[in-house]
Amino acid sequence: MPSLSFVKNRVLFTSGATGNPQPGTLAPLRSEFVLAILTVLFFGDVVGRPGREALAYAVPLLQEKHKADFIVVNGENASAGSGLTPATYSKLMSSGANVITTGDHIFRNREYPLIIGEMPVLRPANYPKSADGKGWGLYTTAGGVRIAVMNLMGRVFMEPLRCPYELADEILQTASQQAKVILLDMHAEATSEKVAMGWHLDGRVSAVVGTHTHIQTADERVLPGGTAYISDLGMTGPYDSVLGRDKYAVIEELRTAMPARFESRRERRSSLWRGREDRRPDGTRAVHRTFSNRS
Ligand SMILES: [Fe+2]
Repeated sequence: MPSLSFVKNRVLFTSGATGNPQPGTLAPLRSEFVLAILTVLFFGDVVGRPGREALAYAVPLLQEKHKADFIVVNGENASAGSGLTPATYSKLMSSGANVITTGDHIFRNREYPLIIGEMPVLRPANYPKSADGKGWGLYTTAGGVRIAVMNLMGRVFMEPLRCPYELADEILQTASQQAKVILLDMHAEATSEKVAMGWHLDGRVSAVVGTHTHIQTADERVLPGGTAYISDLGMTGPYDSVLGRDKYAVIEELRTAMPARFESRRERRSSLWRGREDRRPDGTRAVHRTFSNRS
């Protein structure tokens, strides 16, 4: 029997935007064969109740269709469009999320789960160490595969936090010793910062997916080193809206330059879109293939 050793982790990447597999990166070398396949579903920012309902509807269908092993959901807008409360956390988890990533809105709602460090919830790792919660974690699928998930935030047009590139390197020193599958939610406004992170981590992590803008990008690809990449997953929420907010309220604010009332703490009174016709889950699917080498 030839001895087997892991030589590379490669990823097939398809997107909700085009649904087209990226060709040219999957064919195993003659001396390699597939040892294991792991399918991960990512869902972009869940916005308010419409987003939670879209998630609850979509997860069982997509999980069955894609035989998903692991589900990552960005939940930073899940509670009334801003933040995550214990109640909304429970709803996302009962919809099938394995881990919830977040971003700049995680602490906006003072009801955020105070024990987020003990829950499968991540906040961007570049917050100060004294901030509640943690920026990366190790999780295990039902099939026993260990997965490291990281959450980082950009700094362009956002809060001046620690350098995400240095932090990614720092986290990987530990994470890469403990998991072969490593995922990153890069929560950022500027696509340039996210693209740069994709290149920075190419070949060192399984997937880099961007969140925050609520608009899905059509740039999904597998980078030369094998890392799956997309600049933004988009939004799980109401599309008959402006980024999940009531379109008329947003137009009014932009037209008059006067503040609109977006921030009602009571969701049913807020300006979140409340119709029922056009809620959608945005996200993507990554298939992680572990190859072996017989030589
Ligand atoms: Fe955000």
